[in-house]
Amino acid sequence: MSVGLQPVGLQSVPRAPGAVPLLGHALKLWRDPLGFLKSLREHGGLVRVDLGTMPMIVITSAELVHEVMVKQARSFEKGRFFDRLRPLAGNGLANSDGEVHRKHRRMLQPMFSKERIAIYSDTMSRNARALADSWTPGQEIELEQAMAEYAIETLASTMFSTDIGLPAVEAVRKNLPVLLKNLLIRAASPKALDRLPIPANRDFDAAAANLREVINEVIVTARRSGDTNRNDLLSLLLAAQDTESGDGLSDTEVRDQLGTILFAGAETTAATLAWTFHELAAHPEVEKQLVAEIEEVVGDRPVTIEDIPRLEGIRRVLDEVIRLHGVTMLMRRTTEPVELAGITFPTGTEVAFSLYAIHRDPTLYANADSFDPDRWLPKRQEEAGLGRKDYIPFGAGNRKCIGDLFVWTEATIAIATVLARWQLVPAPGHTPKEVASAVAHADRIPMTVRPRHT
Ligand code: HEM
Repeated sequence: MSVGLQPVGLQSVPRAPGAVPLLGHALKLWRDPLGFLKSLREHGGLVRVDLGTMPMIVITSAELVHEVMVKQARSFEKGRFFDRLRPLAGNGLANSDGEVHRKHRRMLQPMFSKERIAIYSDTMSRNARALADSWTPGQEIELEQAMAEYAIETLASTMFSTDIGLPAVEAVRKNLPVLLKNLLIRAASPKALDRLPIPANRDFDAAAANLREVINEVIVTARRSGDTNRNDLLSLLLAAQDTESGDGLSDTEVRDQLGTILFAGAETTAATLAWTFHELAAHPEVEKQLVAEIEEVVGDRPVTIEDIPRLEGIRRVLDEVIRLHGVTMLMRRTTEPVELAGITFPTGTEVAFSLYAIHRDPTLYANADSFDPDRWLPKRQEEAGLGRKDYIPFGAGNRKCIGDLFVWTEATIAIATVLARWQLVPAPGHTPKEVASAVAHADRIPMTVRPRHT
């Protein structure tokens, strides 16, 4: 790409106010990450933010995010954040770049096809019924935790469906919550801090080692058993072959893919479900419509995959929840000089963008901070002139979430199953606050469960 006389590099981009020596904007990000990310759009499409002494470009317009994720995707790799995740999640799909990513994506894509999701949907429905059965009238639950357990259970049972996998299911249940609690802090802090002998580091390292060890053993046992004729993700990964090269995945690659799917699929799903029940409790008229829809479409039988397209109200609610409480920040790094908004950035420039901030941009969404599922009615969408680039909860282009249909199915089934049986009422004395992690999740959402029909 010719650089010519165009403005070049970071120095051509305005720096967000409030940076301090050595820490840069780290304190602002740490104190109020979501507020800070939203405030950045005031400075135009591109703004410089310093994470400690590391400068990065934050992109705040949907148009430029599309450039990075889709149009110029080939000129970017995942960047610093993912370098830090690599020792934990290995070289799984979310972390790999270039040819390795293309090959692995080709191999994994069929495991998330419509036909496969239909098979997993039985497990999702069974787990959702088990969740609803586990509550008693008047019980107070920690919603975030209950939804995390459901999401983890569903991932674990989709991955390991037979007795061989039971130790892995146990290890996931035990270790994943510990890892998720500290994952983002780990990835965002300097490497030197990993070795500090503090409990958070010790717990994290022990959980990571245990999970890795148990999954390794299960993979070896499953490979030795030679039975790859099953429908769980473990067998599909063991049997996968690249259509172009004919290569399979090594045991380490299988483990890294399983680990990555666990990291990518648990917290995101749990937070989406927890916010859904929170928003429904705050908007009883919307909840009433959903309950009527579920009664009409499903009645009292278990929810099935065929019901999903007919549960249109749930779809709109999920669209709205995920718009309001989505992925906080994604990162990329240029692998060659790249031009954005007329400025040329050299190889190695770190670039970040917030789907959360784009989805709350008042120039795109009327009353951007309010919960209004009807904005997703086709007529209103058309009136608002919303384009595909303006709503990207699962990203876009070659790195788009591979689990989008999975989570949509899983969440719809869980919402329909729980709402048919229970009304979730906020416990008094606590207003949930947003906390930035991979997604904007709530600090805690205590709820009391009341039977819908007595
Ligand atoms: C509400 C739930 C979810 C949300 C909001 C979400 C969002 C995202 C986003 C925005 C990306 C793109 C990241 C980037 O461009 O850097 C992504 C990637 C990914 N997601 Fe999800 N996700 C969710 C659930 C899941 C589930 C349930 C799974 C697995 C079962 C999953 C597996 C993945 C994987 C493997 C990638 C990496 C894809 C690649 O780079 O080729 N996600 N997700």
